[in-house]
Amino acid sequence: MDKRIGNTVINTCSVTHCHSRMPILREEERVLDQHFLHFSYVQGFTPTQSDSALFIQFTTPPHHSFHSLHRWYTHIHSYGAEKLKFPGPKHTSLSFTFNNTKVTIMVNKTTEETGVVAMDSLSLAEKDSGQGQGQAEDIVDPWNVQASSNKGIDYDKLIDRFGSSRIDEALLERFERITGHKPHHFLRRGIFFSHRDMHSILNRVEAGKNFFLYTGRGPSSDAMHLGHLIPFIMTKWLQDVFDVPLVIQLTDDEKYLWKDLKLNNCHKLAYENAKDIIAVGFDVNKTFIFSDLDFVSGEFYKNVLMVQKHVTFNQVKGIFGFDESSNIGKIMFPAVQAAPSFSSSFPLIFGAKKDIPCLIPCAIDQDPYFRMTRDVAPRIGFQKPALIHSTFFPALQGAGSKMSASDETSSIFLTDTPNQVKKKINKYAFSGGRDTLEEHRELGGDCEVDVSYMYLSFFLEDDARLQEIRQEYSSGRMLTGELKAELIKVLQQIVKDHQERRKAVTDEVVKQFMTPRPLNFTGKS
Ligand code: TRP
Repeated sequence: MDKRIGNTVINTCSVTHCHSRMPILREEERVLDQHFLHFSYVQGFTPTQSDSALFIQFTTPPHHSFHSLHRWYTHIHSYGAEKLKFPGPKHTSLSFTFNNTKVTIMVNKTTEETGVVAMDSLSLAEKDSGQGQGQAEDIVDPWNVQASSNKGIDYDKLIDRFGSSRIDEALLERFERITGHKPHHFLRRGIFFSHRDMHSILNRVEAGKNFFLYTGRGPSSDAMHLGHLIPFIMTKWLQDVFDVPLVIQLTDDEKYLWKDLKLNNCHKLAYENAKDIIAVGFDVNKTFIFSDLDFVSGEFYKNVLMVQKHVTFNQVKGIFGFDESSNIGKIMFPAVQAAPSFSSSFPLIFGAKKDIPCLIPCAIDQDPYFRMTRDVAPRIGFQKPALIHSTFFPALQGAGSKMSASDETSSIFLTDTPNQVKKKINKYAFSGGRDTLEEHRELGGDCEVDVSYMYLSFFLEDDARLQEIRQEYSSGRMLTGELKAELIKVLQQIVKDHQERRKAVTDEVVKQFMTPRPLNFTGKS
């Protein structure tokens, strides 16, 4: 069934029985990977029946080293049964060519015959391990984060599902070589654990060229907590290391559409949150913070419209889970979060340059927005944004859910007093310690589930001390109370410093950051 003729690999599949279907060969995957490096879909930039047909040929997900193919595969997978309705004729074979290697894949099998819909209800990872049924999935999207086990989210599985790449040693070494900076402890400790196209950004830096940073916040309450700081701390560090401009989007429009809040209140919250963001220490000469309600117009709005015209309701349904009863503001909003990825949305900063690439630090739950953005970008003549993704900041109650401002007992707020910080940690921080002193001395604490230890790994910069605590605690020499006392000291200091810096942020300073204007931008592009 598998014939090779010269440079041509022909993989013919049996028509009716999926069990006797030939698996896609490595060589074929390599050629497909090259195709999807340049195209979003089989036929270019819109999904068609050819994508569904090709998808069905995979008995297991493509090999991880084929990043582009893997990205396409997880993306098509995310459409679920929707993919049966992709437009276009049903071909019987598809051909791809790369470096004189032509691959023809017979795809004359119908979806009914292979039971693709049933397959789709299983996770990719389950297909991977061949297990099939019964395992709960972590839920991760922009509105829900819920782990299926108390160890927290399985981030390796997420990388597979989302089709991103792990931030590995090789990337960190390259980062250090090019920037001359030891990577931030968020990178070294896997708190930022996944990326898309970070190597392309480093290539540019190596070539002496520029890029810009983009991140954001949905202002739904004035009570910002420690977890909200994480992407901003990372972004500030990247701004310092690369000396590049930064845009920060405050999505007051998004919060109005999703929450039970008055429009003016959302707008006010954007300005309140801007103070906390500025207090992280951004450089006013290189940072533009904007409220969507104020700023969406002109060139920015033109880009919003281009995105809107090239993404269908079916696509956002598949990516975000909208349905016919979703308000129409929600359906179009993803285009507003996409637009800041394109330099031409900010003519005052980038002038006429339309092709300055963007790097987005964000928590992994925001990835669906940027999968959509990366998909549409080449179709409207723009570069795909690069991303680095963080894990979630765990709730005090444990890594099963993330810290959430709407649950007070789960959160340490940036407005908490030293005493509140102490009380909350002592009372709520889930402990990996043992039930009795004897047991603890004998078995040691479990750092994998201990929230205090996790928080230290976010906020205690001293590697040697963190390592020492890990050893002391897991050997049982250090008790939970002692571990918590150490964390309380660290967090009280961080919250106090933040409050002092925030006090210095006057309305005048906010106005400076939020006024559309040119930034210090060397324009080496
Ligand atoms: N949607 C995000 C939120 O609710 C806000 C946001 C807008 C954002 N643009 C972004 C977050 C870019 C990260 C990166 O918080």
